[in-house]
Amino acid sequence: MKILVTGNMGYIGPTVAARFSAAYPGCVIEGLDAGFFGHCLTGARALPEVALDKERFEDIRDVDERALEGVDVVVHLAAISNDPMGKAFEELTAEINHRASVRLAKLAKECGARHFVFASSCSVYGYAEGAARDEHSELNPLTAYAKSKINTEKDIEGLAGDDFVMTSLRFPTACGMSQRLRLDLVLNDFVAAAVASRKITILSDGTPWRPLIDIKDMARAIDWASTRGAATGGAFLAVNVGRTEWNYQIKDLAEAVKGEMGDVEVEINPHAQPDKRSYRVDFSLYKALAPDYLPQVPLQQTIRELRQGLEALGFNNTDFRNSDYMRLKVLSGLREDGLLSEDLRWQRYG
Ligand SMILES: NC(=O)c1ccc[n+]([C@@H]2O[C@H](COP(=O)([O-])OP(=O)(O)OC[C@H]3O[C@@H](n4cnc5c(N)ncnc54)[C@H](O)[C@@H]3O)[C@@H](O)[C@H]2O)c1
Repeated sequence: MKILVTGNMGYIGPTVAARFSAAYPGCVIEGLDAGFFGHCLTGARALPEVALDKERFEDIRDVDERALEGVDVVVHLAAISNDPMGKAFEELTAEINHRASVRLAKLAKECGARHFVFASSCSVYGYAEGAARDEHSELNPLTAYAKSKINTEKDIEGLAGDDFVMTSLRFPTACGMSQRLRLDLVLNDFVAAAVASRKITILSDGTPWRPLIDIKDMARAIDWASTRGAATGGAFLAVNVGRTEWNYQIKDLAEAVKGEMGDVEVEINPHAQPDKRSYRVDFSLYKALAPDYLPQVPLQQTIRELRQGLEALGFNNTDFRNSDYMRLKVLSGLREDGLLSEDLRWQRYG
């Protein structure tokens, strides 16, 4: 089996590659990434990508047949990966996340790949009061990021067939320790704040709902989607990946961190504007289709591993929301310093 993982040099990618290596000894794993965050390592003893069979430093917008030669499975993670970046780079988000993804999927099919796995997002449900949203619920993508994900799903669906099984995994907010840790994700932010300053500041009134998933469980779901047959869920499947009982209110996440770490103050802003992003998600379809690949990592374990990982780094940055742990900050900085062009192309430097 030959697997191409795009966007493998980010937060989730190294864990996905490790999962494939462990599950399929002898498989060929290639990565393709522009490397925007390649330098943002956290606790890695070596560049994670040296363990792969090949790494292509390439922009997803330029991909051609060469990257897809002999590839059986495409796992497509490359993206402008959150709402704040989507807001700052709206047109680029459409170009990279939507148009380049559709192009990649077409190319993958033409080149004979058998599986295409797309990292979508539960944020396509937007602000959703009331019952938990399932795959038949109305979509309400509020941001350029969420729109890019749903536009891609719609435009790739027609490519699927019995020989080209496509899965769009609608992931909740990710959490957990990684060799390229991000702190612009709610649980990671809370644990980092607790480690650095013993104080968690919630930017909302704490009531919004958010489902969570540990990155190891995302890798487990990607493994499932990379090998499932069309008989399980259809040639094209968009599915929410998580556990229904792992929908949390933001204030409960802060309390869980406090419960795990003791002596931590939690500050809620009762006067905050209502958070536009609040939704509960129903994951029963995933449970029915992939009972052997259900998320396994409980919240407390994720918090513990994040804490241990941060402490091992000697993490004490109380101003981390303004640091290279934030994807937007890194991209904006590279642009301001002229290392990346306006349209996020590397410039020669050195
Ligand atoms: N982290 C989450 O909470 C979460 C939740 C749901 C879905 N997802 C999706 O999972 C995927 C991976 O997320 P992540 O948290 O690892 O994000 P990340 O930002 O850490 O990694 C994204 C990777 O994509 C690469 N990339 C971006 N634009 C590119 C381009 N034009 N060409 C080539 N490579 C490019 C970046 O260099 C980076 O290595 C994304 O598609 C994201 O939307 C993430």
